[in-house]
Amino acid sequence: MSAPESTLLDSWHHNAQAWIDIIRSGTIESRLKVTDQAILLAVLGRQPQRVLDLGCGEGWLLRALAERAIDAVGVDGDVTLVEAARAAGSSKVHVASYEALAEAKIDIGRDYDLICANFALLHQDIIPLLAAMNALLAPGGALVIQTLHPWAAAAGDYQDGWREETFAGFKGQWQPMPWYFRTLSSWLNALDMAGFTLAGLQEPQHPQSPVPQSLLLVAEPRR
Ligand SMILES: C[S@@+](CC[C@H](N)C(=O)[O-])C[C@H]1O[C@@H](n2cnc3c(N)ncnc32)[C@H](O)[C@@H]1O
Repeated sequence: MSAPESTLLDSWHHNAQAWIDIIRSGTIESRLKVTDQAILLAVLGRQPQRVLDLGCGEGWLLRALAERAIDAVGVDGDVTLVEAARAAGSSKVHVASYEALAEAKIDIGRDYDLICANFALLHQDIIPLLAAMNALLAPGGALVIQTLHPWAAAAGDYQDGWREETFAGFKGQWQPMPWYFRTLSSWLNALDMAGFTLAGLQEPQHPQSPVPQSLLLVAEPRR
């Protein structure tokens, strides 16, 4: 793993418990008001029976899918988050880094109707990971990615590059997280390079906010 990428995963090891507290207390308003519902509807809209949640964190989406009788499998690179997901009732949650997944070093099952990644693709070199996920989809399957909206997150600098999230404003002890900003064309190019065709694009918005709360991409393997 390259330097910012290993610092990124390290930050999750450090921040795992604070993250669990933040998510489970419903502190992030954009999630409560817009983005949780947006990814859930995007996933349910494809009527999948079997879903892989890539970078599942403490597992809120796994639980929301299981409540709707969907066979939901999770994978994440942080043990504390995976244990929290398991303890909250998700039985199929794997521990694996994206690097290991990209190299298909760990068996996390296959023939998924849908693979989703909710604010979980934060590193630079996403193409090998996405290509590996492509190979795990069943015929007719799809990839659903929700991420920071490039225009809303650009902060005046609309070019691919590493940025830093300090989690300022959240309670607790947080280690800053490097994350890789990518433009809209960079996202679309990465999907293309990983063998996907764009099937849908949404910009989930809150009626009282002038900026989109996220970018949501639906992609299908190019067969
Ligand atoms: C912002 S959290 C999102 C968690 C979850 N998808 C959600 O919606 O709450 C990002 C997740 O990506 C995982 N992650 C980041 N880099 C990773 C890597 N290199 N390998 C595996 N997991 C990674 C983190 O452990 C963390 O759970």
